[in-house]
Amino acid sequence: MSQSATVYVINGPNLNRLGKRQPEIYGHTTYAELAERCVEWGLDLGLAVEVRQSNHEGDIVDWLNTAADESIPVVLNAAAFTHYSYAVYDACAQLTAPLIEVHISDPFTRPEEWRHFSVVSPHASHVIAGRGLDGYAEALALVARSIG
Ligand code: DQA
Repeated sequence: MSQSATVYVINGPNLNRLGKRQPEIYGHTTYAELAERCVEWGLDLGLAVEVRQSNHEGDIVDWLNTAADESIPVVLNAAAFTHYSYAVYDACAQLTAPLIEVHISDPFTRPEEWRHFSVVSPHASHVIAGRGLDGYAEALALVARSIG
């Protein structure tokens, strides 16, 4: 039996607050439910999904470095780090397996201008924004297709 490919789903700051945080923008589903759904979507696609979240930039960089070393595909919602972290930019630049950028809302059309720039997009094969949590399912399907 062939082993499922590992995929990281990496989530940045405040995404641990899903369900409580501005539900009018991010919805009512909790982070724990999102993590569970990502694992299930992965199983359906033959992927072993590891879901991670941190409020600390260094953790995100460390996980991206491991993904680079081990050629692991990444679905990344860097949250606010998306808009200003050059450390995340540099870490994404080292990835060799597919990188898909995901946002629950569409930051590129939100009123705050600082949300319109992404350090992740230049390195991502796809950017999925404004699709709610289903955006993660779409991203995982794209990963499955690109490595399948
Ligand atoms: C977000 C959008 C970002 O602008 C914001 O800072 C987040 C979440 C999203 O998923 O819609 O924290 O990445």
